[in-house]
Amino acid sequence: MKRLDGKVAVVTGASMGMGKAIALALASEGANLAIVARREGPLGEAAEEMRALGVQVLSCTADIADSDSVDAMVESVLERYGRLDILVNNAGVNMPNRTLADITPQDWKTTVDVNLTGAFLCTRAVLPTMRSLGQGTIANVSSGSGRRASIPAGVAYSASKAALSSFNESINLAERKNGVRACLIIPGEVNTPHVMKRLYPPSSEARAIMLQPEDVAAAVLFVVTMPQRATVEELVLMPTVRRNRDDDAKAALGQR
Ligand SMILES: NC(=O)c1ccc[n+]([C@@H]2O[C@H](COP(=O)([O-])OP(=O)(O)OC[C@H]3O[C@@H](n4cnc5c(N)ncnc54)[C@H](OP(=O)(O)O)[C@@H]3O)[C@@H](O)[C@H]2O)c1
Repeated sequence: MKRLDGKVAVVTGASMGMGKAIALALASEGANLAIVARREGPLGEAAEEMRALGVQVLSCTADIADSDSVDAMVESVLERYGRLDILVNNAGVNMPNRTLADITPQDWKTTVDVNLTGAFLCTRAVLPTMRSLGQGTIANVSSGSGRRASIPAGVAYSASKAALSSFNESINLAERKNGVRACLIIPGEVNTPHVMKRLYPPSSEARAIMLQPEDVAAAVLFVVTMPQRATVEELVLMPTVRRNRDDDAKAALGQR
């Protein structure tokens, strides 16, 4: 008997990086999955890897920033599985031009729409089912730059992740009476394709000392396998060896 046998987990942004590692970890404990991303190709390949662990996997191409797309995605999950126990709000984006001086209103909007509104739309769509089951776990993947604004991470990204902290608290305030719990997962730098989209991508040496996607996946697995009576409200996970990012900040500000 595995710890998540009989459970259904929705993981957004599960075609690569952290989301893929989280979905694989949940599958390794027996959870059936619905995995979400916009691009079908990488999502389909990830789904095959997960099915090899012996669980059922529904691939859902959806844009989490679009409420109709999210509602249709959750409807398809309920049609397929008839239940939904875990939501991991993991999908997130950042923009190349991200400083206060550079960011455009459209890039600000896209960042907030995906990182914050996307988490709200997915949560809103799953809550009626979780309430009716009298239980559910929602993991919201934030970032160290949500605790303290970061120049390399950018102004919209930092603000969207800081707001996600408040949203996570609101879920616990409103829904714990219904048996639903939420955890804000706060990772430092993680070696995923996301970090290679920076204006100055990190070297392979720098990526080697970052957290790896599997580390964050282990943290999420811990949170969702705690007895339902216990809520891990926040979990901070940092690389043991911290990089000095002064040069990244200078580069972002055009001072290098
Ligand atoms: N890497 C880091 O250093 C780091 C540190 C702290 C926190 N985080 C956070 O951790 C989470 C995962 O990051 P990552 O590094 O694994 O990212 P990643 O490698 O860039 O992967 C992002 C995933 O999200 C999906 N996605 C993006 N926009 C989407 C949308 N609108 N609708 C649905 N899916 C969407 C992508 O697939 P498609 O493009 O096909 O949609 C992809 O599967 C993000 O929230 C990120 O902000 C990252």
